[in-house]
Amino acid sequence: MKANLTTRFFGLELKSPVVAASSSMTGNIDQIRKIADAGAGAIVLKSIFEEEIYHQLQEELSRRNEFLSDPEYLDYFDYVIKDESLRKYVKLVSDAKAAAGVPVVASINCATSNEWMAFAAKLQEAGADALELNLFVAPSDSSKTGQDHENFYFTVVDRVLRHVSIPVSIKISHYFSNLAGMVQRLSQTGVAGISLFNRFYAPDIDIAAQKVVAADVLSADNEYLLPLRWTGILAGKTACRLAGTTGIHTAETAVKFLLAGASAVQVASALYQHGPAVVTEMNSGIARWMEEKGYASIDDFRGKLSLQNVGNATAWERVQFMKYFGEKEF
Ligand SMILES: Cc1cc2nc3c(=O)[nH]c(=O)nc-3n(C[C@H](O)[C@H](O)[C@H](O)COP(=O)(O)O)c2cc1C
Repeated sequence: MKANLTTRFFGLELKSPVVAASSSMTGNIDQIRKIADAGAGAIVLKSIFEEEIYHQLQEELSRRNEFLSDPEYLDYFDYVIKDESLRKYVKLVSDAKAAAGVPVVASINCATSNEWMAFAAKLQEAGADALELNLFVAPSDSSKTGQDHENFYFTVVDRVLRHVSIPVSIKISHYFSNLAGMVQRLSQTGVAGISLFNRFYAPDIDIAAQKVVAADVLSADNEYLLPLRWTGILAGKTACRLAGTTGIHTAETAVKFLLAGASAVQVASALYQHGPAVVTEMNSGIARWMEEKGYASIDDFRGKLSLQNVGNATAWERVQFMKYFGEKEF
């Protein structure tokens, strides 16, 4: 029996659950073609960054500070820089669409919920099969309430959904006080999928130089446990499909996510570390495992071990190690 790897995510039929996550790699047409040829189910393009555009705008304005007081110039540069960034991104979408032969998902990194949303329509026009919104505000501003932070997500999703007819998925972090409730409510907004959880730039400390430095950009292959837990807890309880992302480097880890209830996995670090061949290895590893276990399709086992199907809350929700440490002798 030959395993059938087709699945659905991003509101689309995918020939494999292994998706190339948004990263600088998926901002390059040659790499996109190689990753697609290696068997990726879809390609999520590098995000167009709202902050990057505003940063560029600020730099341009400070170089031309003689114009700073002139509102017409401000408007002009605002327009030119946004237009230029968007033009480049639209070209990336249409070139990727021509090169990939698998669904191409355009990605927007949203930091505010303003006029930016109208840009989403341009990405649809450029031929994107779906959109992914990378939604994150670090909840570090203590003057804001949890409700303020949460409202941002719903406002952005609502505005984007009004501007496009292609399916919209979101990628979120785990920084919510009511994570399960938030994912459930977001799933009811009309989004096609939710990816759990993005991994961000993180600060670390160099104790020799006593400086704040950047932590590793790439994930390690054991970082998947947090998104795996929440996939298992939430699967079957959301109004849209779920995907896993962070620390998924092997076919074995991908199978764990499918068993927990994910419909797809998004991979970035493993692509950086091993190149596009890792996608082929993951596909053949998933197929081999399915054949060994007698599964013909992903739906035959997707969510088999989710909290909803296992019915054992302790397995997924337990958080304390007490017994283990209590019994261990040194
Ligand atoms: C170098 C690099 C660049 C990334 N750029 C983006 C991006 O532009 N937009 C985005 O939504 N996620 C971006 N990500 C996050 C990935 O899409 C992915 O969600 C995250 O790295 C976790 O998956 P991984 O453990 O397989 O790397 C980037 C990740 C890396 C390593």
